[in-house]
Amino acid sequence: MRKTLSLALLAACGLGLAQTAPVKERPIPRLEKKEGRYALVVDGAPFLMLGAQANNSSGWPAMLAKVWPALEYLRANTLEIPIYWEQFEPRPGQFDSTVLDAILSQARQRNIRLVLLWFGTYKNGSQHYMPEWMKLEPERYFHVIDKNGRPADSPSPFATASLEADIHAFTAFMRRLKAADPQRTVIMVQVENEPGTWGPLRDYSPAAQKLFDAAVPAGVLKAMNKEPGSPNWQAAFGPEAEVCFHAWAVATYVGKVAAAGKAVYPLPLYANAALRDPLKPGAPGSYESGGPTDNVIPIWKAAAPALDVVAPDIYLSEPAQYLKVLELYHRDDNPLFIPETSGGANVARFFFSALGLQAIGFSPFGLDYTRARPAQPGSTSSPDEFLEPTARNYRLIAPMMRDVARLNFDGKLQAVAEEKGKVAQTLAFGAWNAVVSYGAARNNRAVGNPEPTGRVLVAQLKDNQFLIAGYSCRVDFSPADPNKRRQFLRVEEGKYENGAFKFLRILNGDQTDWGLNFGSEPTALRVSVATY
Ligand code: DGJ
Repeated sequence: MRKTLSLALLAACGLGLAQTAPVKERPIPRLEKKEGRYALVVDGAPFLMLGAQANNSSGWPAMLAKVWPALEYLRANTLEIPIYWEQFEPRPGQFDSTVLDAILSQARQRNIRLVLLWFGTYKNGSQHYMPEWMKLEPERYFHVIDKNGRPADSPSPFATASLEADIHAFTAFMRRLKAADPQRTVIMVQVENEPGTWGPLRDYSPAAQKLFDAAVPAGVLKAMNKEPGSPNWQAAFGPEAEVCFHAWAVATYVGKVAAAGKAVYPLPLYANAALRDPLKPGAPGSYESGGPTDNVIPIWKAAAPALDVVAPDIYLSEPAQYLKVLELYHRDDNPLFIPETSGGANVARFFFSALGLQAIGFSPFGLDYTRARPAQPGSTSSPDEFLEPTARNYRLIAPMMRDVARLNFDGKLQAVAEEKGKVAQTLAFGAWNAVVSYGAARNNRAVGNPEPTGRVLVAQLKDNQFLIAGYSCRVDFSPADPNKRRQFLRVEEGKYENGAFKFLRILNGDQTDWGLNFGSEPTALRVSVATY
């Protein structure tokens, strides 16, 4: 009896202790650069965001039950979800962190990291997430004025009261985050959403006009490789003058919000861009003006240095366009991060192309169950169909995420996706070339897959050892020295468990005589090669 009692007491004390034990503070996530490559460092090591962005109105506690199961199906490790200014500051200066707190604790229970999207002054170029008390005072929190002198559906970047209010709210949000998240559940914050303006190219108010007619700041000219001393924006930038002017104004605004938040809590911060056509850019007016489109990235870098990343929202499905965007945003001064993209089967493979450019994260948009219809009786299609293309990628990469992120940061990893009409690609690894081919039959002639779905990553573990993971392709190795031939020493098929490659079997014979074949099942191989 005594024994039972004291055990119970001990257990209760233990429980009490566990409940009150302070949470161990983890290092603040940060971006690191090494020999021109970037990594997002989380818990002290490179991390790859296998992300999914929730729908715009899913960031409410009542909706979260429709979000988490989708993340689980996807095997995503990061949820991108909005924090709404209108919810966070319902009355001037009164902040409500209940929604933020609910998202944090539910994410932690599921071991999911978060990227929070600050839907503040700008959301897709408009001010729709400003609190009601601001919307009711449009004279104070004023809009862009169009060419006809009428207010547009876009906040003016020159509205000082709006800027001050946003800074006040965003810093309150970051302060709360710092206090509530020693676990670093939140690994990045997006400042605003697709900032800029649709319709008018800039603010045409008299005050803005005066600035447009004045000298361009020296920092902008320098960033854009222009001669110093231009008398005004038109003279400096010609047909792109209005877009450049608005980019400077919007970037300055967003940069001030970001800097104030970062001073409170130095998490990695980014802004996202609604793109222009990367191959055949239309004239100003055919795309959102003022955001970090590819033509004005240097202006954003100069005017908003507190932002660590400017990131493309890629809703293009033409392979050449998609790949061009990746190239444009993968810069020496900018880590590649895709915070939004469509989750369609036709573009899912470009996740691998992004990996090939050391992307720190990839996050298709709208992947929760708030819009998806449940399966209809008798229907053969699965309600998860819209998740499946992304799930295929993450099923393969999630168990090996830390290795992939580390190998990529170390410059040991290359990754590619199939393009129609290109049946083979060669990846150079010093003394070895990895030849990736698509749609090869047994006789070894590659003809391309019926639909271009092939994708693969190859990482060099040692001089003569490689890790390979992919779908719908064949990989072989050839020595860079043309006088030598390759032989496989050992081809191990394995399964990643708890972040480590676990040997399953040696592949040989029919499985390797024509090269290393990757089909529709997630497959990871560790391969040792030699020459003869
Ligand atoms: C891009 C925006 O950034 C998202 O918030 C969302 O509106 C999508 N477009 C379209 O659904």
